[in-house]
Amino acid sequence: MRTKIFKISKNNPDMKLLGQAAAIIRKGGIVAFPTETVYGLGADALNPSAVKKIFQAKRRPSDDPLIVHIASKKDVKKLVKEIPPYAKKLIAKFWPGPLTLIMKKSQAVPYITTAGLETVAIRMPSHPIANLLIKISKTPIAAPSANLFGRPSPTCASHVLSDLGGKIDAIIDAGETTIGVESSVVDVTVSPPALLRPGGIPLESLNKVLGAVQVLGKDKVAESLKVKSPGTAYKHYAPKAKLILVVGKRRRARQKIMELATKLSKKKVGVLAVSKRFAVEGATVLFAGRTNREVAQSLFGLLRKFDQLKVKVILAEGTAEQGLGLAVMNRLKRAASKIIEV
Ligand code: TXA
Ligand code: MG
Repeated sequence: MRTKIFKISKNNPDMKLLGQAAAIIRKGGIVAFPTETVYGLGADALNPSAVKKIFQAKRRPSDDPLIVHIASKKDVKKLVKEIPPYAKKLIAKFWPGPLTLIMKKSQAVPYITTAGLETVAIRMPSHPIANLLIKISKTPIAAPSANLFGRPSPTCASHVLSDLGGKIDAIIDAGETTIGVESSVVDVTVSPPALLRPGGIPLESLNKVLGAVQVLGKDKVAESLKVKSPGTAYKHYAPKAKLILVVGKRRRARQKIMELATKLSKKKVGVLAVSKRFAVEGATVLFAGRTNREVAQSLFGLLRKFDQLKVKVILAEGTAEQGLGLAVMNRLKRAASKIIEV
């Protein structure tokens, strides 16, 4: 199929083009669209045959449930059995925004969307184009990240095109996403609520509102997590190159990276630097940013960039697990074939 590209300005959108994208969703097609976190691959969440197309295009295992995106807080009601008190607090504080809540699903949500689970993941994105697309489509939109399964999530339309071009009906291109890592996923059916995936809303901010949050599988994919949030059990975010993550005090980590780069000099080596630029002889250094916020925004794009540069080994510097750093480290650990502590 030919994938249509709708180039739409984020702040001054062409409503006619958006209407065409919404018409595709309404007819059961699949459209990639920007959110504040990453690009999503959307379909009518209440139409099983439309949702099936998402799994096929992404080559996503059918036991990995999707997030249902809504345009207004009141839309959550018909998708769930109840809204727990924890959820009400979080919704008031963080929606619209990069927070996904797991609640008990109502009959309106088909099992293909939740991968057979009795719970459903719901999020209200803050990106104006996502919001308008859902509104005009007049249905909640199920959307995983718009990458091929296992690849880094897309933060701009060209990433989507290179993974899914020819396999989906359309892509709405509204430029780069601002947060760069996916939403935080919080299960509010348990007490205290559990963070299933760190993301765009920092754990510290969730704790402030909730008092306490369980953090499951922070460092490894725990068995409990595997059952609770199937998608988090698969290896993910992986560039084609082998990624070695080096964690520890900054100076020692950099020394280790230099050492490894020399040792690996027969291969094409890339270095992912955080907080400060530094040079490594014989390696291509890409700088991810000064703050954790900047690193989060650039991370997935840089992993793809290393692949374009045909780098064979990426030596990545770790960052402090604070603020968005927790999400960044989660993605790096899950992309890594090896983690070295110095
Ligand atoms: O920022 C985001 O969340 C992006 C944008 C497009 O909204 N979406 C995204 O979707 O990252 P995806 O499919 O790549 O990740 C969804 C995560 C997976 O880890 C999945 O297992 C989990 O949410 N999830 C979905 N439904 C769930 C449920 N009922 N129970 C537990 N985990 C669930
Ligand atoms: Mg994903």
